[in-house]
Amino acid sequence: MDVRCRVVANMCLLLLLFAAPVVADPPIPAAAGAVLKRIRSADSNLLAVSEEDGRMLRLLAASNHTKRALEIGSAQGYSAIWIGLGLRETGGRLVTIEYDQTRAKEAEANIRAAGLSDIVQVIPGDGFQVIPTLPGTFDYVFLDAWKRDYQRFFDLVFPRLDKGGLFLGHNVVNKAGELGDFLKTLRTHSGILTTIVSPSGEGISVSWKR
Ligand SMILES: C[S@@+](CC[C@H](N)C(=O)[O-])C[C@H]1O[C@@H](n2cnc3c(N)ncnc32)[C@H](O)[C@@H]1O
Repeated sequence: MDVRCRVVANMCLLLLLFAAPVVADPPIPAAAGAVLKRIRSADSNLLAVSEEDGRMLRLLAASNHTKRALEIGSAQGYSAIWIGLGLRETGGRLVTIEYDQTRAKEAEANIRAAGLSDIVQVIPGDGFQVIPTLPGTFDYVFLDAWKRDYQRFFDLVFPRLDKGGLFLGHNVVNKAGELGDFLKTLRTHSGILTTIVSPSGEGISVSWKR
């Protein structure tokens, strides 16, 4: 192959690499995709997780064969929809708790519009009051409430997390400064194995219960 041919071949390869889709996720059902877009474009308070984090939450729910998931802090249901899409693969269920009554109603309507009412249940109320009333254990917990409460929620929920279950905390990178005690627990607790993934810079701690 002469030099010119090699240059052209390399350029074609580069074009192919850049044209290839970076994300190879399976397609999202149209109804859910439309609701996700709508929530994000109306999210003036920037409450929802990033799309990249949503995809990660779905993957973690599906890959750990989750059956009984809990979310603390639903807002308008954006992350709950991503988790619900993961649970569609496993036959699992999600309970998500939101103490702002208006947001809880919006989350419920969004989850219905996304076609996930059979999987995701929104409970309006304060997580500290609601969780003790829920039956059984959990095998996936996603914590996305106010950051000052993370350590207290960890203490409340961890005893009810199954062995092999995942405890996920959101914003552990971009709000690390508000999460000192919780991050110290993640570093030092002997009952968990933790890493932090940060697909969008917000950061999700992923702790697997030994
Ligand atoms: C960052 S937003 C959650 C965003 C949501 N996970 C998403 O990605 O779409 C935090 C939410 O947690 C709720 N929240 C804060 N403390 C709570 C508590 N103790 N119990 C229930 N909800 C709480 C707030 O009202 C707020 O809507």
